[in-house]
Amino acid sequence: MGRVQDKVAIITGAASGVGKEDAILLAKEGARVVLTDLNEDAGRAVAAAIGEQALFVRQDISSEDDWKAVIQATEDKFGGVDILVNNAGILQYGTIEDTTLEQWQKVQRVNSDGYFLGCKYGVLAMKKRKSGSIVNMSSIAAISGMSAFCAYSASKGAVAALTRNVAIHCRRFDLKIRCNSIHPDGIKTPMVANLHSTTKPGQMPEVKDLKQAMSRMADPKDIANLVLFLASEESRFINGAEMHIDNGWRIWAER
Ligand SMILES: NC(=O)c1ccc[n+]([C@@H]2O[C@H](COP(=O)([O-])OP(=O)(O)OC[C@H]3O[C@@H](n4cnc5c(N)ncnc54)[C@H](O)[C@@H]3O)[C@@H](O)[C@H]2O)c1
Repeated sequence: MGRVQDKVAIITGAASGVGKEDAILLAKEGARVVLTDLNEDAGRAVAAAIGEQALFVRQDISSEDDWKAVIQATEDKFGGVDILVNNAGILQYGTIEDTTLEQWQKVQRVNSDGYFLGCKYGVLAMKKRKSGSIVNMSSIAAISGMSAFCAYSASKGAVAALTRNVAIHCRRFDLKIRCNSIHPDGIKTPMVANLHSTTKPGQMPEVKDLKQAMSRMADPKDIANLVLFLASEESRFINGAEMHIDNGWRIWAER
């Protein structure tokens, strides 16, 4: 028996980075997995590599219609939803002084609105099963400030607050659905690598020396292990928690 044997999991942003590792690990532990992403080619390739227990659905997480379609496709194929990993996200460089309103709104649309829609339709679907687990990808940016990423930090703060709201709502109405957020420091994924390659030298004090910074970054598999634990019944008493996965970064920064 796998640790999430026969559960049905939706993972957003599963074409790349952390979401890809989440989908592979959950499937390895017995789940049937629905991978969603804007990137169809890469998403389909990951689903094909996993095999028959995987389905890929193209989705923009900021679209309400897309969320309805993903839930419908999941129910049609696998009969319901037990696990939702809200993982897709975008990163935007910019401080409070130079972030434009357009950039701010673009990030909130995906990272905040997209997670609201995911939690809303996830809870509605899980209510039919009378149980479930939602895992929301936040960041240490929600806690530490991170001056170089104004819009992103605020969007991840919204994810943390939404997580607590969903957890307490589900407890209040005894829905038996848990909701927790994950707060990593840097992870070796295309998100960070792409940001570096599109940024002019000197713009990013936090990751100026990418090689040095990468040496202390997490592997996506480190995050997937925590996602698996929170998705599984092993974490049945953990609800509304902010899980820091940063190799002690926070206490190190405050020492
Ligand atoms: N990489 C890090 O250092 C780091 C640190 C903390 C938190 N996170 C968070 O982890 C999550 C995964 O990030 P990653 O590092 O694997 O990034 P990634 O860029 O490798 O993967 C993100 C995926 O999300 C997809 N995506 C983007 N916008 C989408 C949308 N509107 N609808 C559907 N899919 C969309 C992309 O196509 C991509 O496949 C994100 O929420 C990110 O904010 C990352």
